[in-house]
Amino acid sequence: MHDDRHTLDRGKGVEGFALYSSCRIGDLSSSFPQLFNTLRAEQNVGLNPINSLFGAFSRDLGIDLGTANTLVHVRGKGIVISEPSVVAIDLRTKRVHAVGAEAKAMVGKTPANIVAVRPLKDGVIADFDVVEKMLAYFIKKAHAHSAVPLMDPRPRVVVGVPSGVTEVEKRAARDATLNAKAREAFVVEEPMAAAIGAGLPVEEPIGSMIVDIGGGTTEVAVISLGGIVINHSIRTAGDEIDEAIIQFARREYNLLIGERMAERAKIAAGSAYPLEEEIKVVLRGRDLLTGLPKAVEVSSVEIRDGISGPVYAIIQEIRLALEETPPELVADVMEHGITLAGGGSLLHGLDKRIAAETRMPVHIAEDPLSCVARGAGKMVENFENKVYQDILTRSQSSRRAKL
Ligand SMILES: Nc1ncnc2c1ncn2[C@@H]1O[C@H](COP(=O)(O)OP(=O)(O)OP(=O)(O)O)[C@@H](O)[C@H]1O
Ligand SMILES: [Mg+2]
Repeated sequence: MHDDRHTLDRGKGVEGFALYSSCRIGDLSSSFPQLFNTLRAEQNVGLNPINSLFGAFSRDLGIDLGTANTLVHVRGKGIVISEPSVVAIDLRTKRVHAVGAEAKAMVGKTPANIVAVRPLKDGVIADFDVVEKMLAYFIKKAHAHSAVPLMDPRPRVVVGVPSGVTEVEKRAARDATLNAKAREAFVVEEPMAAAIGAGLPVEEPIGSMIVDIGGGTTEVAVISLGGIVINHSIRTAGDEIDEAIIQFARREYNLLIGERMAERAKIAAGSAYPLEEEIKVVLRGRDLLTGLPKAVEVSSVEIRDGISGPVYAIIQEIRLALEETPPELVADVMEHGITLAGGGSLLHGLDKRIAAETRMPVHIAEDPLSCVARGAGKMVENFENKVYQDILTRSQSSRRAKL
């Protein structure tokens, strides 16, 4: 096991860690006394007055850095940004051409010199430099919403990461946030943030089960007394359901459809349980035999069958988590039900299907797409709260890479 400072060989990473280690200590002294003492003992680093000054003018942020969508909660204001995690890059100049909704509109439609990329895959950072640029853009944009826009905001940031990530992946999320000009970055496990955002009693001695079905990952967690007791994370979620629709169209109709078409079909007619009234949807793409454009009308029954693989994988994971959950906590889940969060929870009938397969009551959280951001937001709104301090302290435990 090495110290971070010696194992990071990238210029940016080293700079990022230097910024992290030198500036966060000062702020922690007031808001995280326990963590501060530990860090001071370990690192013996003092307060950096310049960064504290930046802090006085910045608003703290809670960020859900999702595979599909990034949401930013600004302390004192609420969620001000909710945009797709997509960046369009000009290959000639290597500069960012567009970010967010504007970039997503370009997916599959860009001219040769521009590529639209999704820099997160399966919930984790696949392209570090692009994530950093995207975060820098969103952090700046979040401050542009404030009454006095800042030239160079340096906020404290709480950023959600999937609970199944490795130490190195956690550190990458923190470094990307720091390099995007945050003055302190804390990671929090997404299911914990989602549970807080959904209003579950995370600090009580009551078992709460949260299932966050996003674009890249499905996270299943049982939380009690401020900690994650059981945690299952699989890299099967909304994106894989889209991919299953693409495969279904190819297999059954020799039709090649794009990602956006598949997602639209899923939202309109995808389901996990028989619908009260089955519907039809038109898939448009290219005929693989003739090479010509083709439109095919398919039924929700066919689509349900086409996506049954990933849907089953998600349900299986929930069942496995329940099997591992201690009996006292299972009793709580039976009483209070399973809470679903994330965009994937909106798949028609998924709640009914999970209820049928687990024999547990199932509720979809209010505004499931924003649960993680609202949870991270609650943490930045209440940095001083002991429960949140403890949760954040635990979440940072991987400050040192196990290489
Ligand atoms: N009404 C809907 N029905 C079915 N799926 C939906 C619906 N609305 C959104 N989705 C899907 O939800 C997913 C995005 O959800 P969300 O924003 O929670 O993911 P994310 O947080 O970006 O991803 P991750 O947590 O895996 O990193 C996409 O796959 C999207 O297609
Ligand atoms: Mg998510």
